[in-house]
Amino acid sequence: MSVTKPLPHDSAELHVTGQARYVDDLEAPAGSLHLAFGLSDVARGEIVAMDLTAVRAAPGVVAVLTAADLPFANDVSPSIHDEPLLAEDEVFYLGQPLFLVVARSHLAARKAARLGRIEITELPAILTVEQALAADSRFEDGPRIYEKGDAAAAIEGAAHVLEGRIEIGGQEHFYLEGQAAMAVPQEAGGMVVHSSTQHPTEIQHKVAEAIGLPMHDVRVEMRRMGGGFGGKESQGNALAVACAVAARATGRVCRMRYDRDDDMVVTGKRHDFRIDYRVGFDDAGRIAGVDFRHYTRCGWAQDLSLPVADRAMLHADNAYLLENCRIESHRLKTNMQSATAFRGFGGPQGMLGMERVVDHVAHALRKDPLEVRRVNYYADAAGVGGGGGPAPHRSSTDSPRDISGKRKPGADDHLDLTSRGATGPVEDEVVPVPPPGAQTTPYGMEVEDFILHEMTDALVASSDYVARRAAVAEWNAAQPILKRGIAISPVKFGISFTLTHLNQAGALVHVYQDGSVSMNHGGTEMGQGLNRKVQQVAARVFGVESDVVRITATDTGKVPNTSATAASSGSDLNGMAVQAACETIRDRIAEVVGQLHQVKAAEVVFAEGEVRAGDAVLRFADAVKLAYENRVSLSSTGYYRTPKVAWDRIAGRGRPFFYFAYGAAVTEVVIDTLTGEYRILRADILHDAGASLNPAIDIGQVEGGYVQGAGWLTTEELVWDDTGRLRTHAPSTYKIPACGDRPDVFNVALWDSPNREETVHRSKAVGEPPFMLGISAFLALSDAVAACGPGYPALDAPATPERVLKAVTRVRDGR
Ligand code: MTE
Ligand code: MOS
Repeated sequence: MSVTKPLPHDSAELHVTGQARYVDDLEAPAGSLHLAFGLSDVARGEIVAMDLTAVRAAPGVVAVLTAADLPFANDVSPSIHDEPLLAEDEVFYLGQPLFLVVARSHLAARKAARLGRIEITELPAILTVEQALAADSRFEDGPRIYEKGDAAAAIEGAAHVLEGRIEIGGQEHFYLEGQAAMAVPQEAGGMVVHSSTQHPTEIQHKVAEAIGLPMHDVRVEMRRMGGGFGGKESQGNALAVACAVAARATGRVCRMRYDRDDDMVVTGKRHDFRIDYRVGFDDAGRIAGVDFRHYTRCGWAQDLSLPVADRAMLHADNAYLLENCRIESHRLKTNMQSATAFRGFGGPQGMLGMERVVDHVAHALRKDPLEVRRVNYYADAAGVGGGGGPAPHRSSTDSPRDISGKRKPGADDHLDLTSRGATGPVEDEVVPVPPPGAQTTPYGMEVEDFILHEMTDALVASSDYVARRAAVAEWNAAQPILKRGIAISPVKFGISFTLTHLNQAGALVHVYQDGSVSMNHGGTEMGQGLNRKVQQVAARVFGVESDVVRITATDTGKVPNTSATAASSGSDLNGMAVQAACETIRDRIAEVVGQLHQVKAAEVVFAEGEVRAGDAVLRFADAVKLAYENRVSLSSTGYYRTPKVAWDRIAGRGRPFFYFAYGAAVTEVVIDTLTGEYRILRADILHDAGASLNPAIDIGQVEGGYVQGAGWLTTEELVWDDTGRLRTHAPSTYKIPACGDRPDVFNVALWDSPNREETVHRSKAVGEPPFMLGISAFLALSDAVAACGPGYPALDAPATPERVLKAVTRVRDGR
């Protein structure tokens, strides 16, 4: 009954009436203190002296802390301990926290933080890709390389060869609720922390290290975030640790929130990428071989950059069967904010590289890019429609000796249990070897569930693509100033954490004597509707309406050792864990009721708020009461681990993903060739959410993901000047899509067919994949520019009006 119902977000009313409470809304006792960081004004240098006299003397200031005042670990890194909370001797980016002000009010703390006199000997900052390469400034010894077949030979032997480059900008998360935390000291030194975080266990871990306590003395609570988008996987650590350290030092409740400018200047963003490509193909556009070089600026600290860059490589094929492919990835260390997780986690950048290649090939052959996409698609489950060039004679990495599930020692041998994955496999899992003849990704995973042929057909029909493409061509032939463009782009996105051990979740469910249910799990709510979906799963097990199940705050005291709510796997993992816990309790109740009515427990039915055993019908609450009176436990944990995944990230082989989620979008745009301005006129989307747990919420994710993805590639531009200062640090200079930027016509539908893998009710993860549907907006702009002349637009992202205008000129000149 309850699963698959399109119920609204559980907090929708609270959100729109302003009653939903976020971290900074929590009431704190009188005497609470407020924190602010003093920030570095230079991108790189050695600290000579810090004169904080004026800061200490400022009105309302209670304490000022530097690195030397920290009692234990000075580290907020989620990976390799390279990220001090407060700078020690050196600074690595403009905006890095240097000292911490503790004051009686938020404003007092912020004002005082400006008064530090910091003497820094400036060193030459490494800011650009060129500078980083010249200095060999990077996070791994050399580039990481994944290979399949022989790309170089296949390209040389192909009828046509093209090469090119695309620059892909980063992106600010722009969660509406900025980073925030509050620490409440407990008796005997314990600490309770409220943090706007996607990863409460990591906050618990980092706080415990920073104040010298075992994890059981730190409890982290998180009711909801006003958006996370990956920006709260690791970036909340600094505020939570600062609050805990200050609370320990003062014995008072301490709270901290970044104002918007600080949030943008201090925290990491999406990684920008430069992708160089070389591709060989035949007259039909079939790709024989492709070579990618990814260069990504990771910023000053490692954070989650390795797995982000890995995921970009893992999506370099997108939806296309590449028999000969080489991907080389450079993770560059630069003196900027430490780039971090952002919806898609590198996937969007890798995928855009491939979509650019397809677009470029189609332009060179004067073909509809859709045709080139189709001939290169993977084959569907029936083996129909597989593209790709000839299989290689010699295969360098397909041989079994390279397929090893064992962890390789070396530079990547860091193991941090709370990070999102900078390590190789730690379990002795066997990396699966696909059967001979199977179609595989460039990293050797068999693609068994490809459904984009059917989905593309359906979307082409529902969007009227063919007729509209003809109409666009007609329009462009007649109109000298306004040019239209239309493009379709597919998404194939891998679901699972690539650090295998993170694919686990726990839950704790209580049923009270009155028949009401309380549900806890390790996932966090950031607007994506996770709690509602999981609530529906729980209600389904007990056969009750979803409001019988109470959604509670995420709490490390209830469910321990959780993974970040990330990689889109929140409902896959926590849905299963909660379901397991509920089933345990349901089976115990069934046992009691069955015995009483002489019916096998397995035949007791829970439905429509009732428990039925043969002819006997009890209200759910009465069955619960009966179980209680028979002294049966009505509380249970639940646990889930994703099956089938095994991955060796160093070799680039294995099955990193349990399954793929698919989608496709058609976008139509119009550009003004005099100014470069444009509008998205229409978007049609068909997205695969498996058997949707909640179609209303899933459609919301698809709409929001598309708009955020289109924003990334159109108007959202990050600009650093040559001193390393982020010049776009407020909404005045950084343009996210507004309601008015939503496509005028926006048709979104779900591809309603069950996941072939055994996920919760056969649903699919939906959080990140639709983001990449926004690529179709970028390609539509490319199509519109291409209508202006013979040249290839070679647009860089974001395709701001300035870039579009320049591309129009280039294309007219035939360049
Ligand atoms: N939707 C909203 N409204 N707010 C968010 O912060 N984050 C996205 C996506 N959708 C986000 C969102 C990201 S980055 C991820 S990984 C998933 O939601 C996480 O939630 P899930 O695993 O429950 O889908
Ligand atoms: Mo999402 S980038 O995995 O938090």
